[in-house]
Amino acid sequence: MRQIKLGAEKMFFGEGAIAALADLPARRKRAYIVMSGPIQKDLGQLGMVTEALESAGFTWRANTDVEPEPCWESVAKGVEEIRAFEPDWIIGFGGGSAMDAAKAMWVFYENPQYSSLEEVMPPTVIEHLKVKARVCCIPTSAGTGSECTRAALIKDPVQKRKYSIRDYSGRLVPDVAIIDPVFSTTMPRSGTVACGMDALTHAIESYVTPLANPFSDALAIGAWIYGYKSLPICADDPDNLGARGDMLAASCLAGIAFSNCALGICHGIAHTFGATYGIGHGLANAVVLPYSIAFNAGNDTRAAARYEELAGFVGKSDLHRVIVDLRKELGVPHAMQQLVPDTAEFEASLDELVEKVLADVATPANPVEVTAEQARDLLHRVYCGA
Ligand SMILES: [Fe+2]
Repeated sequence: MRQIKLGAEKMFFGEGAIAALADLPARRKRAYIVMSGPIQKDLGQLGMVTEALESAGFTWRANTDVEPEPCWESVAKGVEEIRAFEPDWIIGFGGGSAMDAAKAMWVFYENPQYSSLEEVMPPTVIEHLKVKARVCCIPTSAGTGSECTRAALIKDPVQKRKYSIRDYSGRLVPDVAIIDPVFSTTMPRSGTVACGMDALTHAIESYVTPLANPFSDALAIGAWIYGYKSLPICADDPDNLGARGDMLAASCLAGIAFSNCALGICHGIAHTFGATYGIGHGLANAVVLPYSIAFNAGNDTRAAARYEELAGFVGKSDLHRVIVDLRKELGVPHAMQQLVPDTAEFEASLDELVEKVLADVATPANPVEVTAEQARDLLHRVYCGA
């Protein structure tokens, strides 16, 4: 038996969706807005959010201090501010970092009895949620799909480890998702590509994991078709609202897909390069994806057949080739060596990297059970481009 949750309680999609903020039910009418850095403010986008809130009588506070790939310190600082302000809505406004930070702050605001990330890791069931506040997410990039996923990734820079706060019954899925393409038009090409490749990786890994099910399959297929078609358009024509909307829909669908099944070895390796060398999550997945496809297809006939199906949905036959061509078109580096040039350091860290890959939360759901030897070989291929 599996509990399925197909997105936020309410989802608003399309140009002008931001107006839905005015209808958020609230008693105190206070909103705490979490952003990743001041960029949304500088672009004038925060003003669009606060205007909608103010039109409905909300007061608001904004936090622009969250770094890309949020750290525990930023979350803890936000929680303190939230406790003082007592909002009834916490709004994650930005990319996955802002949305994940908002969700994490919400968990600790609701539960003052917890004071560390370890305390909220599964199998712990988070005690209170939605007692003090609810969460609304407004993505400004098409990547993580955090506006509809049941997890929040928070980094511990001291241990060089990422914690995935999650709840298997879906209680961490935001109450409201507002998906308005106007906010993603300002994303630069490199960010559009990295985020978009992350979303495509979510769709592909969701489709081949043994935990895939009819619900996740439907979402993964939709995400893949919409994402594959719209990502190159978003990269080349950033103001194309139709393509931006399709790509946001794809990342959201892919997020819901993997939330209802799992990811795989591509994320296991991407997380490892992210935590060890600071490679951005989307870019790391973009580099690793074809190697993971080749590995799984070569070791598992079901995975190979499913990859072929995905290629077929976009009129092709070889998914590995499709991804390699797409990466080339989008300017994604072919091998991790281009991003981590110190080969001696990489070689010296290999044992540690293998350990991290095998311990990663995404690895066990891969179609092929990965041995240490296979992880080592795969890391080498990803690094050298072999
Ligand atoms: Fe991802």
